[in-house]
Order: sequence, then C-alpha cells, then structure tokens
Amino acid sequence: MRKKIVAGNWKMNKNYAEASVLMFQLLEYKKNNPTNCEIFIAPPSIYLTTAKEIFADKEIGIYAQDMSEYPSGAYTGELSVEMYQSIEIDGSIIAHSERRLYHGETDSHANRKVKALLDAGLTPIYCNGETLEQRKNGQHFEVIKNQTQVALFTLSADEIKKVVIAYEPVWAIGTGETATPEQAQEIHAYIRSLIAEKYGKEVADEISILYGGSVKPDNAKEIFSKPDVDGGLIGGAALKLEDFSKIIEAFNP
Ligand code: PGA
Repeated sequence: MRKKIVAGNWKMNKNYAEASVLMFQLLEYKKNNPTNCEIFIAPPSIYLTTAKEIFADKEIGIYAQDMSEYPSGAYTGELSVEMYQSIEIDGSIIAHSERRLYHGETDSHANRKVKALLDAGLTPIYCNGETLEQRKNGQHFEVIKNQTQVALFTLSADEIKKVVIAYEPVWAIGTGETATPEQAQEIHAYIRSLIAEKYGKEVADEISILYGGSVKPDNAKEIFSKPDVDGGLIGGAALKLEDFSKIIEAFNP
C-alpha cells in the first residue's frame, strides 16, 4: 500500500530560533493528534541535526532540500549523501523547480542524486513539473514523460518503488495559483501510467505521488481526495503550524 504523505519544504526561511519553535510545535502537535498520513519536513540543512534531536522518536520524517551528486571532495558549499546518512536523516528533495531554475539542475543530475540516495538507503523526493509556457503550448505530458524517464527510468523496479515523486507545476509554485484537482489527478495518473508501462502496475501502485504548488488549508482536501494524489509537498503553508496542521488534517475523515 502506498503511503499518504504531507511534506513541508521550508526552503530558505526561518532563523535558528524560529525553526526550533516550529519544530517543537510540530512535535507537540504530532504527540496530541493522531494523523492519517506521514509527516515530513525539509528544513534548511543547517537545522537538520536539531530536527533529528527534537524528533528523536522519529515522529516525523526529516529531509534535506538538495544534495551533491558527488560522494565527497573539493565541492565548496555542497553537502553529500554520506553526510546526510551519518546524521540519520530520511532523505532529500531532489530537482525542485527552484534548483532547476536558479542552479541549472537537470534530470540527469537528478538521476545521479536519486541513485546515490537509494544506494545509501535514503529516500528521494523527486520533483518534476512543467512551466507555464510548456502548459500553454500543450507540452505538459511530453515534458513530464521526458523528465520522469531521464531521472528515474535507469532504476530497477525495487529501487523506483522507494522513490516519492512530487508533481509540481512550476506555474503553481508560490504563485497562489493552484492546479485544479482535476489537472493534478490527470498528471498524477499519467505519471503512474508511465511507471506502469515500464515496471508494471504493481510497482506503479506502490509509489506515492505528491502534488505541490500553492496547497493551502482551503484547497488541500479536494486535491488530496483524487485517487492518484497521495499527499502534498507544501511550501509557504508549511511555515506556520496553523496552516500546515490543517493540511495534514485534510486526510482526516
Ligand atoms: P508553495 O511551494 O506551496 O509555496 O507553492 C511548493 C513547493 O515549492 O514545494
């Protein structure tokens, strides 16, 4: 059975004190509220060890926002999978559209990073999605197909089962504009069909596909109700417990 997941991508927000406060609030929340989904957070990497200490009982999954494709060496400013492994976090977001846009990340990079994480026993949350121009030109299926194939289709069936995919249309990220639940479902079902074609339906049915792009308390329930949407990767609304908890509760009956 695939997992239901609500993941918070904190991006480059919050100083240490603010980040700690939100982590303690989340811990308190998790202890007092049974949830019907798994909760992940991806704080800035500088706070990952703090997150590990605060969530010592693994109440929530701890993820990085990116990593180097190289194992170690002269790569100033980069962080390696071995470093993440050594502090025992759960995995990393890979190929977020902001990494693609501002740092020239491609699906070939993503492919190597995803493989490195899996080899280390960590979970990749691999992001893809089309730009506004690509959607307007009707290229979204083609773009998604190409991204998914390049980033993931060198993996074995056992490996790809461990990947979490996040469909994040670039035009919906941080813009307040959300894909309609129908648009999200259409692409999620398409991604699943691509995986089913290559690896078989059983493998495809095990993979959690999250939607990301302006998920808020007031639209989460409808988006998450779609059969191929297994949760969300949340940016802005993950920065306040009040909003993030309401999104988590979108999975409550
Ligand atoms: P947003 O970001 O929820 O602020 O649109 C989502 C993301 O970038 O993962």
